[in-house]
Amino acid sequence: MGRLAPAPACVMVIFGIRGDLAKRLLAPALYNLCSAGLLADGFKVLGVDHNEGDDVSIRKDLGDFLREQASSKGSEMGKGEVDERCWSWLADRISYHQAEFEDDAAYSALGKKIEAAGTENALFYLATAPRFFSVVAERLCKAGLLKEDDGRFRRMVVEKPFGEDLDSAKELNRRLLACMAETQIYRIDHFLGKETVRNIMVTRFGNGVFEPLWNRMHIDSVQITAAETVGVEERGAFYDKTGALRDMTPNHLLALLAMMAMEPPNSFDPEAVRAEKGRVLEAIRRYSPEEAAERSVRGQYTAGNVQGKAVAAYRDSPNVDPKSDTETFVALELEVDNWRWAGVPFYVRTGKSMSARDTEIAIQFKAAPRTLFQDLPEGASKPNVLVLQIQPDEGLSLCFHAKQPGPDVELREVAMAFRYADVFPSKPATGYETLIYDVLIGDPTLFNRAQDVENGWAVVMPFLEAWKAGGKVEPYAAGEDGPAGAERLLDGGGRAWRPVGK
Ligand code: BG6
Repeated sequence: MGRLAPAPACVMVIFGIRGDLAKRLLAPALYNLCSAGLLADGFKVLGVDHNEGDDVSIRKDLGDFLREQASSKGSEMGKGEVDERCWSWLADRISYHQAEFEDDAAYSALGKKIEAAGTENALFYLATAPRFFSVVAERLCKAGLLKEDDGRFRRMVVEKPFGEDLDSAKELNRRLLACMAETQIYRIDHFLGKETVRNIMVTRFGNGVFEPLWNRMHIDSVQITAAETVGVEERGAFYDKTGALRDMTPNHLLALLAMMAMEPPNSFDPEAVRAEKGRVLEAIRRYSPEEAAERSVRGQYTAGNVQGKAVAAYRDSPNVDPKSDTETFVALELEVDNWRWAGVPFYVRTGKSMSARDTEIAIQFKAAPRTLFQDLPEGASKPNVLVLQIQPDEGLSLCFHAKQPGPDVELREVAMAFRYADVFPSKPATGYETLIYDVLIGDPTLFNRAQDVENGWAVVMPFLEAWKAGGKVEPYAAGEDGPAGAERLLDGGGRAWRPVGK
């Protein structure tokens, strides 16, 4: 980022500035962009929300939170102090506009404030509850604020969840596209802002060694894991209606799968990259509900212990139905029906209150022939595995066999590992920095097109349908890595889930 130019001047209008996302992620990301010198002098933030407030109180609240984050160990803002000069540069540019999102009149007042900001460019960031996404877009459109004439840009970032099933995602796309052009819409998936996720393309296409092996001839199976130690916390009302499948799969897990499985694009042109990622989503097999039932396992955590801390059962969490059947863990077997991947299972799993925080893509290669090692006991040699570690310790490792020293030929599994932190100084980042910068410069590479979100939902719909028809959520104690039944998915091919966090 160091060599990039500051993004063009713009008013960033954040709807929902009083919410958690704006406070925890957007304000820190803007601060980091400001420290990196990537915001132009004419950059302004106009926060919109229904709570009482003014410019002074919003600046104070965001600043206090930033300082608290910066001083707390393990936060993504990194350790250390806030650079007060930088924060005051940003704070001076933040103002508050109190308004109800449904109130038409508020939008003409908003238009005047944008005009007064001294730049014609505007980025509307929908950090609100999803029910307001089209409400806000339609009112902005009616007030003429989405028109891109005279060389000015008007862009909109739409947060997740983008719909709650295929029909509602289509409906949301329809309503947004009635207000503006597809090129103005940036559907965000914050996983794509993570450094290692972006690095998947460089690993694959910037090295000669991996790509020749990256296909069904050499790869046995792929495991994608997004394990979390956090439970449902204070999000019961949202989560109990949503569950792990909707919350993480059509977006984050499929985004990882698409990066891992895509064909090399012709260039890094945004449309070339998005087209290749989109083709993977199109090629994921749409199961019948019966197939989906067979190829999925869902779990819900009961009381347990996560990293030494007692955790109450999901059903005892605030705003969760005490009889809830919502899954807090899901494991699926997916298939990508194209030439490169035919017959290679993609196992994906995600869950809350698991033993460790661990997001990774593990590529298991086909085992070498046993011809030379027939005397060794079955299982003495394991398949090679390449792991792309996404968080918390970003890196890449390859597990392979070495000869144990001594007179006998005994194989021992060892790993060659590269940790980002050992080579590159870490910079505090929330993952939103790149994404916000990209919207400001108009680069949609890492954002989803309308059909991508619809394809994501089309993949998960059969699972939702199958579960509606019956079947059980299997319990796992908080601190375990999903229900015992999750192993069932991998049975038969000499495969097992990788231990989480190891
Ligand atoms: C969000 C989900 O989109 O991603 C959360 O709604 C989840 O439930 C989070 O915890 C995980 O993101 P990260 O960046 O913390 O891995």
